[in-house]
Amino acid sequence: MASEKNLQELFHETLKDIYFAEKKILKALPKMAKAAQSEDLKSAFEKHETETEEHVARLEKVFEEIDESPSGKTCDAIIGIIEEGQEVMKEFRGTPALDAGLLAAAQAVEHYEIARYGTLKTWANELGLKQSMELLEETLSEEKKTDDALTKLAENEVNQHAQAA
Ligand SMILES: [Fe+2]
Repeated sequence: MASEKNLQELFHETLKDIYFAEKKILKALPKMAKAAQSEDLKSAFEKHETETEEHVARLEKVFEEIDESPSGKTCDAIIGIIEEGQEVMKEFRGTPALDAGLLAAAQAVEHYEIARYGTLKTWANELGLKQSMELLEETLSEEKKTDDALTKLAENEVNQHAQAA
């Protein structure tokens, strides 16, 4: 094999991917909060924006533990997911289904993050990065809670409203 790539490198690359993604999400959330019609959905987005700032800070500590400086690597997956959300905002503006579309876009983002953090946490454990593992676990559980809160919001309020027209 020409170059021996190992788990540590894969961990670093994936860390760059989610760091890029979190920063994109940080920019997208205020726009989503502004577009949301439901006050509850708006505040769910605002709350997650504050949490996302913390997610970025935690990732910076993980970079520190592996002696790397924080940097992002273009993540086409998150760009695509966010673009889909923007399309929904445009196409459903002023309609009762807008919030259901925004919520669905936000859940796609959360699911991407849950996949990434789940993997990174497992790798951190295998690499013996104890502090990183704990930091990644904390963020993972916040992403899961956000996803659950969005599901409840969809079931209790947003989807009904979308059907009301
Ligand atoms: Fe996050």
